[in-house]
Amino acid sequence: MLSTPVARLHSSLDDDIDQILVDEATIQQRVQTLGAQISAEYAGKDLVLVSVLKGSIIFMADLIRAITIPHEIDFMATSSYGASTSSSGVVRILKDLNVSIEGRNVVVVEDIIDSGHTLSYLLRLLNERNPASLRIITLLDKPERRAVAIDVDWVGFSIPNEFVVGYGLDYNEIYRNLPYIGILKPSVYGAG
Ligand code: IMP
Ligand code: MG
Repeated sequence: MLSTPVARLHSSLDDDIDQILVDEATIQQRVQTLGAQISAEYAGKDLVLVSVLKGSIIFMADLIRAITIPHEIDFMATSSYGASTSSSGVVRILKDLNVSIEGRNVVVVEDIIDSGHTLSYLLRLLNERNPASLRIITLLDKPERRAVAIDVDWVGFSIPNEFVVGYGLDYNEIYRNLPYIGILKPSVYGAG
C-alpha cells in the first residue's frame, strides 16, 4: 500500500527523504541570482510572469521577491492524463490566464522540466496569443528525460533522473512544504 494521508500524520516528512539533492541555502542563493538576471533583462520593459500550478508556487513566490523591477503575475494550471510519476504527453488546461499576453513579454515559471511534453504544449498555446516575447525559467531540469526539444532560458539546477520532492514539488500532493529538494526513499513508493 502506498503512503496514506493517515500514515503521513504519524511521521515526519523528513524521514521519507533518502537524500537532500539541493539544500535550502543553495536554492535561496540561486533564486537571488536568477531574480537579478531577470531584473536586468527586462529593466524598463513590460513583464508578466506566468506560474504553472501547483509545483512552481514556492519558486514563484521567492523569485518575484528577488526581482526588483515592476511586473505582473498570473497563473495557469495543467494536468496530464495518465500515470502520476511520468508524463503522458496529453495535457489538459485546468485554469487559464486571467490577463491578456498579446504584445507583452512573458516568462513562464516552471518547477521542473522532465519529458518536456507539458511545457511544449503550453508554449504552443501561449504563442498563439502573440506575446512580444515568450521565455522559460525552470527551477529544475532533468535533461536525460527530455522527449521534446525545448529552449529553456534559465535553469535553477540540472538534476539526475530521480524523482524529487520539496520546494513546491509533490508526490501524491505531499512534501511541497519541504524547504529543500530531496529524493524520496523507495519505501515511500511501496517499493522498499
Ligand atoms: P513533463 O511534461 O514530463 O516535462 O512533466 C513535467 C511535470 O511532471 C512537472 O511539472 C511535475 O509536475 C511532474 N514531475 C516531473 N518530474 C518530477 C519529479 O521528480 N518530482 C515531482 N514532480 C515531477
Ligand atoms: Mg507540475
